[in-house]
Amino acid sequence: MANLVNFEKHGSIGLITVDNPPVNALSVGVPQGIMDGVNAGETDSGIAAIVLRGAGRGFIAGADINEFLNPPPPGSASLFDVLNCFENCKKPVIAAVHGNALGGGLETALACHYRCGTAEAVYGFPEVLIGILPGAQGTQRLPRICGVEKALPLMVSGEFVPAKNALALGIIDKIIDGELLEGALAFAEQIVAERRPLRKIRDETAVAPAEGFFEDFEKSIAKRARGYLAPYKIIECARAAVALPFEKGVERERELFGDCLKSDQSKGLMNLFFGERTCTKIPDIPRDTPTQKIASAAVLGAGTMGGGITMNFVNVGIPVTILEMSQEALDRGLEIIRKNYANTVKKGRLSQEQMDACVSLITPTLSYDDIANADIVVEAVFEDMDIKKEVFRKLDGIMKPAAILATNTSTLNVNEIANVTQRPEMVIGTHFFSPANVMKLLEVVRGERTKKEVIATVMQLGKTIKKVPVLVGVCDGFVGNRMLARYSKQAYQMVLEGALPQDVDKAVFDFGLAMGPFAMGDLAGLDVGWRIRKRRAAENADIEDDAGIDDQICEMGRYGQKTNAGWYKYEPGSRVPIPDPEIERLIIEYCEERQIRRRQIGHQEIVDRCIYALVNEGAKILEEGMALRASDIDVIYANGYGFPRYRAGPMLYADMVGLDKVYDAIRGYHEQYGDIWEPAPLLRHLAEQGKKFSDL
Ligand code: CAA
Ligand code: NAI
Repeated sequence: MANLVNFEKHGSIGLITVDNPPVNALSVGVPQGIMDGVNAGETDSGIAAIVLRGAGRGFIAGADINEFLNPPPPGSASLFDVLNCFENCKKPVIAAVHGNALGGGLETALACHYRCGTAEAVYGFPEVLIGILPGAQGTQRLPRICGVEKALPLMVSGEFVPAKNALALGIIDKIIDGELLEGALAFAEQIVAERRPLRKIRDETAVAPAEGFFEDFEKSIAKRARGYLAPYKIIECARAAVALPFEKGVERERELFGDCLKSDQSKGLMNLFFGERTCTKIPDIPRDTPTQKIASAAVLGAGTMGGGITMNFVNVGIPVTILEMSQEALDRGLEIIRKNYANTVKKGRLSQEQMDACVSLITPTLSYDDIANADIVVEAVFEDMDIKKEVFRKLDGIMKPAAILATNTSTLNVNEIANVTQRPEMVIGTHFFSPANVMKLLEVVRGERTKKEVIATVMQLGKTIKKVPVLVGVCDGFVGNRMLARYSKQAYQMVLEGALPQDVDKAVFDFGLAMGPFAMGDLAGLDVGWRIRKRRAAENADIEDDAGIDDQICEMGRYGQKTNAGWYKYEPGSRVPIPDPEIERLIIEYCEERQIRRRQIGHQEIVDRCIYALVNEGAKILEEGMALRASDIDVIYANGYGFPRYRAGPMLYADMVGLDKVYDAIRGYHEQYGDIWEPAPLLRHLAEQGKKFSDL
């Protein structure tokens, strides 16, 4: 363990360095190593003070999250031992922070007598993001430093506090300009020279908040914290910090931490934490695969998607040439981009200068000649194979040989598009989600001939433009939409059987999704699917010509929110769906005409059928290799489909329910409803073996 933490003498200062790459997590062995260092410093009469720092990228990023999921054998020294050891040390202990001090890392720093750090360092308690709370006395110390009114929002949001703000809040005592080690050693010497007291935050009092603060705060987070456990447990901790003495507050924090840790929510969120990092690892594409530099981009089409995609690039300083068919379309597209930025400026999330800088990186054009030198081109023109093919032939003729040719198609075959070019190895799918400047998910679609360097480059680019990139294979709807089709089908089927759209939406919303399938349809526009269905029916005589309820709704001119009516009705200017008796009547008449006997459908059945439909298709996708791992599917659902993060995604949810139970339910549906519920062989296999998707 010696190499996890090192101790050395710098004159009269003992220096403890935590060296546990990549982020200096407090893994087994680190606490003991730190305590050994303190002991060495304390027993050495030549040492007057001790400085604690991290090696490499930062100070300490917190507890080792792996150890929450797979606890190490009991008996090893814990973070609590370290905190006691600091507080009981007779010599000043000073934290010297660079990079980040997060979670248990910040708690470690707060138990030191003094804290200093670089001007670039950041501080925070991101535990809430993995479903737990700062459980090593952090909820009791932070309010004692900066008052509960400032501390609580930090702990509940998990936001990172920059050094300057941390200094103002009293989280740190000094910002070191210049070299950290030199400055920290000098600061330690100054503390010794000035005989400063050994400050213990535990002895201080948390300033009580204004009357009604906790109640108001709870109300203010109601929407974003809906369904989450940890934010509310943190509020209870903060209440304890003002109401109880330190020791009692810490006891309360321990209990509440235990509640969080043993919940399924923390397991879900921790799995998602690792899933969002694992998804960029591609087994047959090693990390050292060469990537191309992307210094410029071109986007084809300035419509709904092209505009959003352009914003992603310019937001990170990559200039974009955006190409359209007509000046009018170009002007319209650019106007929408400007409006989007202006709204963000209005909300105070962007300065006017930043907006101007972004807009200045966009060059509109009507000529292919202007895009020939771009490092990547993302095509976002109409969803029509003939048009896409024509566009890719043109791109093939004009783009420089090293350019990556990406398509944003949502349903078309990327291989077919690639094969019209002389360089299918340079063609890839980049499936953004609407609104593309907001949604984090990026499905990177690997064509059968896409070369590894292109995949590696686009995965890296995804991260650069602040997306969560997930590699998927070529199949109808790729991963997310292919699964969604099954889910939507069940939602619709249940409306035929007896539920109303609002019943389905409520059950799914209460389960935790951002919105139900019918409200989502209204938001996305019902006419899109309707046109596709009409086109397919016209092309294929085998498709039954019985207009569904969804088609009838469109035929009534109800396209969703954009027409103030769809499955629901909307007050002008409002996005709040209002159940519509007219639609209820339509549904009932539709069923009567077809002699469908309607019945009551309970919430649990609605949830099970919607979610298991996702799971069964997800299992087929895994088996076909269209997704690399179950956690990739969960990452897709959490980042692109409003699946509650605290459940990670449909696949981990199924693991938690138990695949035997899920399989039994699906077998039952299969008997009742036929082929659509054909159980995925992989699901059967895992269920019979008592295994989980996460065991794969
Ligand atoms: N435990 C275990 N592994 C961790 C980790 C942690 N706390 N933090 C990061 N890692 C791992 C990542 O999984 C990743 O591993 P791979 O390279 O194998 O994928 C690697 O470290 C690098 O992480 P990132 O890719 O995220 O690197 P980054 O530079 O983009 O971000 C970071 C660095 C800001 C520290 C980010 O990793 C992060 O936010 N980490 C989590 C911090 C956190 O939640 N701390 C609180 C832990 S809980 C706690 O401390 C409870 C308590 O009260 C005691
Ligand atoms: P859109 O209709 O809003 O925009 C398409 C734009 O492309 C129009 O402005 C049109 O003038 C332009 N265009 C058409 N042909 C062109 C050509 N040959 N050269 C240059 N410009 C041309 O369509 P939207 O919604 O932006 O979709 C674009 C692509 O993104 C489609 O492939 C779609 O399937 C896909 N997609 C759409 C999503 C959505 O939610 N709208 C989500 C994910 C993918």
